[in-house]
Amino acid sequence: MASPVKVGVIGCGAQGTNHLNVIKELGMEMAVVSAFCDLSPERLQNAKELWPQAEAANDFKAMLAPGELDLVIVATMPNTHMQMALAALEAGADVLCEKPFMRNAEEAETVLETAERLGRQVQLGTNMRYMATSGYLHDLVASGEIGTPVYSKVWGCHVNPPWWGPHYYLSSSAGGVLASTLIHALDLAIWVGGSPNPVSVSASMGRLFPGKRGPLASPEIRERFNVEDLFMALVRFDDGSTCVLEGNWCDDRPPPHCFEMVTTKGKINSEPFIVTVDESGEVVDKTPKLTESSGWGESIRNQDADIIQSLKTGSSWTMQDSRQLLNLQRLIDGCYESARNEREIVL
Ligand SMILES: NC(=O)c1ccc[n+]([C@@H]2O[C@H](COP(=O)([O-])OP(=O)(O)OC[C@H]3O[C@@H](n4cnc5c(N)ncnc54)[C@H](O)[C@@H]3O)[C@@H](O)[C@H]2O)c1
Repeated sequence: MASPVKVGVIGCGAQGTNHLNVIKELGMEMAVVSAFCDLSPERLQNAKELWPQAEAANDFKAMLAPGELDLVIVATMPNTHMQMALAALEAGADVLCEKPFMRNAEEAETVLETAERLGRQVQLGTNMRYMATSGYLHDLVASGEIGTPVYSKVWGCHVNPPWWGPHYYLSSSAGGVLASTLIHALDLAIWVGGSPNPVSVSASMGRLFPGKRGPLASPEIRERFNVEDLFMALVRFDDGSTCVLEGNWCDDRPPPHCFEMVTTKGKINSEPFIVTVDESGEVVDKTPKLTESSGWGESIRNQDADIIQSLKTGSSWTMQDSRQLLNLQRLIDGCYESARNEREIVL
């Protein structure tokens, strides 16, 4: 493709604005935002300041109607992801959809089957895969140099509920700390570990809000907050490895999204970034010095650059496949089912 990739962004809130900014940084020869959409006039105005030449719409179907977009980024809350992703695919675009992918595996299957039928691509915004440390750890495990994964501990803990978007209302968010926060490091740990299939999960969840952090929130948030802000689970995989998950929205210690993994020959930590190997019984630090930064903003930029570059060169998106996407969605569904019913779920 000689011309820039034409991008449409649905939802110009916190994350939509990140994408609008990142695409600007990539440069007009790579991509242009030709259209964006939001229900809020104020957010449309903010987007207009970043992309004055783009069409502004308050109806995503009207935005998609001309059928001229190469890529649509869905950055609304999860209750609208399926209808927007399906409409974008039908309009001839490939789709980058924010996490959590869909509200359940049934919706995820519908979207993935539609993409397959139409010959289009779908990727989930699990941007942590694009951190330099993530790529290094993924390739290290894949090489077999550090043995095979045995056990991992994954956590996603914010100091507060995510006040920037309505992630704490079940009707729009499809879940609390697991669906909104913990999902990032969970996806990353599974991917680094070679993407085994999850086979069972035993989970529990609870809520500390408004007892914790409640005084910091507006009365409207306090009244309607109805998701879990505490989550724990044990997951078993078909390669024999296990994973312990922990998430909350009232943690006092950074970093917020991390995992550590014990392997048959060593141990890796995503943040702080540490690689140790057992050499003749001694624990040896093998952490490399990486020149590329692994910040959150860079990972979103790398993600958008990767998929836009693939569209420009006509190559396929390779970071995820449908099996991984469906496995993640089924695992999230299984986590919630297990926690609600207080028993182990076989996936
Ligand atoms: N990967 C990341 O780093 C990251 C960070 C934050 C949020 N997210 C994800 O991005 C998504 C959005 O979260 P957010 O925090 O930006 O929420 P947000 O509330 O700030 O933004 C969502 C926007 O969608 C708009 N919207 C809602 N319904 C719409 C419709 N029918 N048509 C057009 N616009 C509509 C809202 O007006 C709002 O401006 C969620 O899926 C969230 O999990 C990802």
